[in-house]
Amino acid sequence: MSTPSITVYVPGDAGALALGADATAKALAAEADRRGQSMRVVRNGSRGMFWLEPMVEVATARGRQAYGPVRAADVAGLFDAGFLDGGDHRLALGLTEEISWLKQQERLTYARVGITDPLSLEDYVANDGYKGLERALTLSPEEIVDEVTRSGLRGRGGAAFPTGIKWNTVRGAEAERKYIACNADEGDSGTYSDRMIMEGDPLALIEGMTIAARAVGADYGYVYLRSEYPHAIRTLRAAIEIAREAGWLGEKIQGSSTSFDVEVRVGAGAYICGEETSMLDSLEGKRGMIRPKPPLPALKGLFGMPTVVNNVISLASVPIILDRGAKYYEDYGVGRSRGTLPIQLAGNLRTPGLVEKAFGVTLRELIDDFGGGTASGRPARAVQVGGPLGAYFDESHFDLPLDYEEFQKHFGILGHGGVVVFDDTVDMAEQARFAMEFCAIESCGKCTPCRVGSTRGRELIEKIMRSEDVDANHAQLLKLCDVMENASLCALGGMAPLPVLSALRQFPQDFGIAPSEEPAHVE
Ligand SMILES: Cc1cc2nc3c(=O)[nH]c(=O)nc-3n(C[C@H](O)[C@H](O)[C@H](O)COP(=O)(O)O)c2cc1C
Ligand code: SF4
Repeated sequence: MSTPSITVYVPGDAGALALGADATAKALAAEADRRGQSMRVVRNGSRGMFWLEPMVEVATARGRQAYGPVRAADVAGLFDAGFLDGGDHRLALGLTEEISWLKQQERLTYARVGITDPLSLEDYVANDGYKGLERALTLSPEEIVDEVTRSGLRGRGGAAFPTGIKWNTVRGAEAERKYIACNADEGDSGTYSDRMIMEGDPLALIEGMTIAARAVGADYGYVYLRSEYPHAIRTLRAAIEIAREAGWLGEKIQGSSTSFDVEVRVGAGAYICGEETSMLDSLEGKRGMIRPKPPLPALKGLFGMPTVVNNVISLASVPIILDRGAKYYEDYGVGRSRGTLPIQLAGNLRTPGLVEKAFGVTLRELIDDFGGGTASGRPARAVQVGGPLGAYFDESHFDLPLDYEEFQKHFGILGHGGVVVFDDTVDMAEQARFAMEFCAIESCGKCTPCRVGSTRGRELIEKIMRSEDVDANHAQLLKLCDVMENASLCALGGMAPLPVLSALRQFPQDFGIAPSEEPAHVE
């Protein structure tokens, strides 16, 4: 049978599936059959414009034409409109690459997501896949580490530690075995960039892990993936199989001296298992509990061996750095925040989704230009950046550029790049209460400031909310936050005060505290 000349793309990404992409794909195939139309349906990754999902694309001579959101009921009408030739229709969005939301982005890590068939090695290679590893196989471990260090890449999991420096520690460690442990726990609220890479371009992560393995001398890797991501688990496992069969994993990769293999381990989705030492415990089959540091996982990690622990996005950014060179990547960004960040827009927004931009983009650009303002049409009042442990920012901070150091100066974090927007109906005292409650639920229980402090913190906020002895309970809450920040064993307890304090500082009226008692700005 000859290959159909028309290719139609329907995302297989979990976000698109939740919006009916499977029903759309089925309806497209059935309608094509009914009309005797030969066509190939590729289940690509999502372009990240969730309000347009399921977004169907057709490959035409002029480029890919997009239509969305396409429900099963729209399919017959699309055929009638001649969409296979890019025909006009009320759902027509024009050429995908010309959609300004996409065009304004700088997609480096996400370069292939939505473009390729995630499980086609041929597609991957035709779109610059494995170029980074090919180059890495010609370099010494020191040269690879040097390239990653010079690129300025910092960990995208939250702590923003320089990736090259971490790799160099593992490279220099003497041990009978070393490991690469990819942190795909992605527990932060409002985040999904790891998931989208694993579903949309899984071979990029495998390539990044293999480059890391060559750089530090590891021969085995694990991806620690949460059970709530069944599509990512399936896609990544299938991609590992494909890479193995083609000699991109396994013994003597592509005839080189590097041997490396990977497996996916499924976690049960406890937030604390995203913390690296807890993740290592969980990978070893134990209950995920924080290990005191030192020793660093880079020296004594998985099964006591030197281990690179990196986030999915950190590792998936490595292939392009090796392919295009450190300078290419470093040329994006501001200050010490180099390269790009896949930012995940969520919450009360009209057009939320995945935006990959160089560091330096402001919150306002993200909320207004990309997010399209609030979905409710009411003014945006607060933004939480960096997950459940990230600070809230009021409107006076919306011109802050996304830059690790700038955010730190304003008592905030960028974390894993999650941006959650709230309109003016939000009750910030309730948000602060929730931060402590979240910490109480997710605490591993190993240290007192977090285990006990989070529950006491929630109680104090509840008393303030009930207007009980507000001054005394406010003072007590500030003291408690100080203890949690300074005496917790890990960043769960250490950072839970961030959202609480930022809410108190910027929105005291929500707690029934007079604005004059606290400075309105977090400066
Ligand atoms: C409570 C807590 C949860 C975390 N969850 C994640 C997570 O889900 N994914 C992740 O990559 N890093 C998470 N981290 C950060 C990791 O401990 C670690 O810094 C990271 O995996 C290192 O990789 P990177 O240098 O590439 O960012 C978490 C940290 C804490 C304290
Ligand atoms: S801060 Fe919380 S999560 Fe971290 S070790 Fe202490 S009890 Fe466990």
